[in-house]
Amino acid sequence: MKKQLVIIFLILGSLSHYGQIIPAPASMEFNKGNFELDATVGVTFKGLKKQESTRLTNYLVDKIVAETSVRIASKKKDSKNIILQILQKANKNLGEEGYLLTISETEIHITGNGYAGLFYGTQSLLQYVIHNNTQTPIQLPGLTISDKPNVKWRGMVMDVSRHFYNTKTIKELLDLMAFYKLNVFHWHLADNEGWRIKIKKYPKLTSVGGWRTETPGSIFYKQDSTYAKKLDGKPYKYGGFYTQKQVKEIVAYAQDRNITVVPEIDVPGHSGAALTAYPEFSCEKHVQESPNSTLWNGVVNPANVNLNYCAGQETTFEFLEDVFTEVMELFPSKYIHVGGDEVDKSYWKKCADCQQRLADNHLKDENELQSYFIKRMAKFLEKNDRKLIGWDEILEGGAPINATVMSWRGEKGGIEAAKLKQDVIMTPNNPLYFNRYQEDPKNEPLAVAYSINTLEKVYEYNLIPKELNKEEAQYIIGGQFAIWTEFISSVEYLEYTLLPRMPAFAENMWSVPKNKNYIDFKKRLNQGHYDYWKANGIRFHPKYYKKSVY
Ligand code: ACM
Ligand code: ZN
Repeated sequence: MKKQLVIIFLILGSLSHYGQIIPAPASMEFNKGNFELDATVGVTFKGLKKQESTRLTNYLVDKIVAETSVRIASKKKDSKNIILQILQKANKNLGEEGYLLTISETEIHITGNGYAGLFYGTQSLLQYVIHNNTQTPIQLPGLTISDKPNVKWRGMVMDVSRHFYNTKTIKELLDLMAFYKLNVFHWHLADNEGWRIKIKKYPKLTSVGGWRTETPGSIFYKQDSTYAKKLDGKPYKYGGFYTQKQVKEIVAYAQDRNITVVPEIDVPGHSGAALTAYPEFSCEKHVQESPNSTLWNGVVNPANVNLNYCAGQETTFEFLEDVFTEVMELFPSKYIHVGGDEVDKSYWKKCADCQQRLADNHLKDENELQSYFIKRMAKFLEKNDRKLIGWDEILEGGAPINATVMSWRGEKGGIEAAKLKQDVIMTPNNPLYFNRYQEDPKNEPLAVAYSINTLEKVYEYNLIPKELNKEEAQYIIGGQFAIWTEFISSVEYLEYTLLPRMPAFAENMWSVPKNKNYIDFKKRLNQGHYDYWKANGIRFHPKYYKKSVY
């Protein structure tokens, strides 16, 4: 008991300069007095469109009641109010997403240039409300915050192909992202292991491509800490997909939280699910039997080893244009991700149609054929007023002029692209792939072992490579971490993988370098964040939980 008291004292006795907020704000000062949050409090808006103010009011009132049981009024009160106000004269320094938050004894005031800023001011306020919700009445400390993000693109890629996650879980992820001020949800919707989005013109994509049957590969995919039970070897059907109505619902839910949903349909490789459903768009034109199933071969149909679209047939492009047309109708995002990674070009070498394409277009080799493929996709997207993003392989054979490059095989591709004046999002697998171990593998559930991506490595990752000068560095528009789900087959394990690395990544992207401090960050995790997750049944890696000294 005594020891516990000492620990509690040590934690509370050394409050972080940033109080309880993650990511650390650009500037923050504590003032005298507290604001008591109770049912006499109201909300009022200035300068917001009716629809936006309704969205934000409902969000704030619902969130406060869910976390505290205090129901504030959704309109102005005579006494204490939370005032959310769009600045009449724009404050250039705050940008699109910045905000000012003041808490005094009589009023809470959040201002910004637009919805995004007010939303983030609301998140900082909510962090204080949630982290103090065991008091009655809830006392919020007087403070003044001026804050904005350091980096424009603060993303997460979520693979729902290797394992499917339903819309409830996707919404939970979006809530966590919003809480830590992340703003891009990159939804990896199609891969060899499953096609997850309903496309009306091609129903077999989901009726066939959305499901896989048990194979040595798919059994392997079922192993993780939460599925430690013995496999019985019986056949099973695994999969699922989102209807278009569900997709629209997720996009709107994200939009309310200042999150853009960027869809990814991976082409020309990683396409085994689609090509099991429609093998006519592969080089073989039919399901190609393979005698072997490999460790990673958890494909929809493990017999079908042709996982690339044929780049020689026009029908492939007609099919993809139809698919992307439906995708664009569902996702308002300017950016559309077409994958482009890990293409096994040996099929193209053997295919008469692909070789004819090479000859007709004077292409030197299959790398140039890949470039031809991606450039056609870019042109199609551009015609529809969208922009292509691809993994760094799109640089091989030449990237489309306006393409944005996601650098995953380390930073090399990102450096090359920035020097070519192409926008870059850094997502190097070491340390930003969260499907990798976060601690010594001997104590951890099964994960990818190529590197150990610890909390500290994620927190300290330097987004701007030293190889770039100041002008080139401007092309690095942000960073993104990745959840690939080969081994992650449960929500519990997903959460364990995410937390606390997600807030570490968020602080790395949002906060200016001078405000970053790893020890202070861990202190703040212990000043409400771990407890918040615990209270909500959200799993996390416990290494630093309730520690007073790091
Ligand atoms: C990737 O990890 N293949 C993008
Ligand atoms: Zn072909």
